[in-house]
Amino acid sequence: MTNTNRVFNFSAGPSMLPLDVIEDAAANLADYNGCGQSVMEMSHRSKEFGKIIEEAEADLRDLMNIPENYKVLFLQGGGTLQFAMVPLNLLRASKKADYVVAGSWGKKAYQEACKFGDIRLIASSEEDTFTYIPKFTKEDIRPDADYVYVCYNNTIYGTHMNELPDTGDIPLVADMSSCILSEEIDVTKFGVIFAGAQKNVGPAGMTIVIIREDLIGHADATVPTYLDYKVHAKNDSMYNTPPCFAIYIAGLVFKRIKEMGGLAAMHAADVEKAELLYSYIDQSKLFKSPVAKEDRSLMNVVFVTGDTDLDKKFVSDAKAEGMINLNGHRSVGGMRASIYNAMPKEGVEKLIAFMKKFEEENL
Ligand SMILES: Cc1ncc(COP(=O)(O)O)c(C=O)c1O
Repeated sequence: MTNTNRVFNFSAGPSMLPLDVIEDAAANLADYNGCGQSVMEMSHRSKEFGKIIEEAEADLRDLMNIPENYKVLFLQGGGTLQFAMVPLNLLRASKKADYVVAGSWGKKAYQEACKFGDIRLIASSEEDTFTYIPKFTKEDIRPDADYVYVCYNNTIYGTHMNELPDTGDIPLVADMSSCILSEEIDVTKFGVIFAGAQKNVGPAGMTIVIIREDLIGHADATVPTYLDYKVHAKNDSMYNTPPCFAIYIAGLVFKRIKEMGGLAAMHAADVEKAELLYSYIDQSKLFKSPVAKEDRSLMNVVFVTGDTDLDKKFVSDAKAEGMINLNGHRSVGGMRASIYNAMPKEGVEKLIAFMKKFEEENL
């Protein structure tokens, strides 16, 4: 029943999901595993859903090699709510935190945190339109900071933190919304990892939070119940009704990545796709990547022609060929091809073939 009408969607999120996951969910949509109801309808307290969420957590733990002393939470509110939950829970001693701003999402997180404590910006690449990851060392971090915050992959600007920052004993918090499950990560190096689901994980509506246990339980009494990690941890992500369907689809995606060989295999496939695209761009006379080579993202490939009208034509001509959402973020323009885990290699090959033709016709 494979649908041949599907486009290649290069959106930064929500973005493509593996077709076999969608088809599996479709086959079970009205009657999940013979239980006579869909996952959308069943009680989150039911035996069936209990199995779904337990397996999703176990598979994610397995994939990312998450140690016992970390909690895995499936929350709501997107990456954006974490911009507030992180400071509300982690500003626990000095009420100081140090932020690295390498893009708009990191800047939003920094601005939100400033409402809650003594927040310092220790590195930023904003002056250069976030075309690289700003450098910082352990010496830049205040020794009594409660945590250090970074955004690991900058969705809008197409940069990725390719070097793990050394923060010593100070917990490192990372927004991995647009790169989670695309590489092997040593979770023990982080205090908190969070990610909105709608790029590499599943449908929008679910946010993954991976948090070291000793960082839970420090929120002030004034922090709203729902924003306290302790409440969600104690209730196994079921303090209230969780985003059941999104968790179910995420669980299918986790199983699929495990079947294909885990994060090492996923990463190899992602590297292959990104290298194809970057090596074409690097030799092109029309398209340029504005991003520092050493900081390039595997997930979001940003490129420009230098002519705004030509960029617009590229995006609309590509759409007519079944390649949609190639426009850059509204704040930067140009083009951006988001080639997350679920983008097939054929999608990238088709894009490159189209870019070649466009270059020949428009140079
Ligand atoms: C890196 C990053 N962090 C946070 C967000 C905000 O996520 P949400 O829309 O889930 O709140 C986004 C959205 O694209 C993002 O790319």
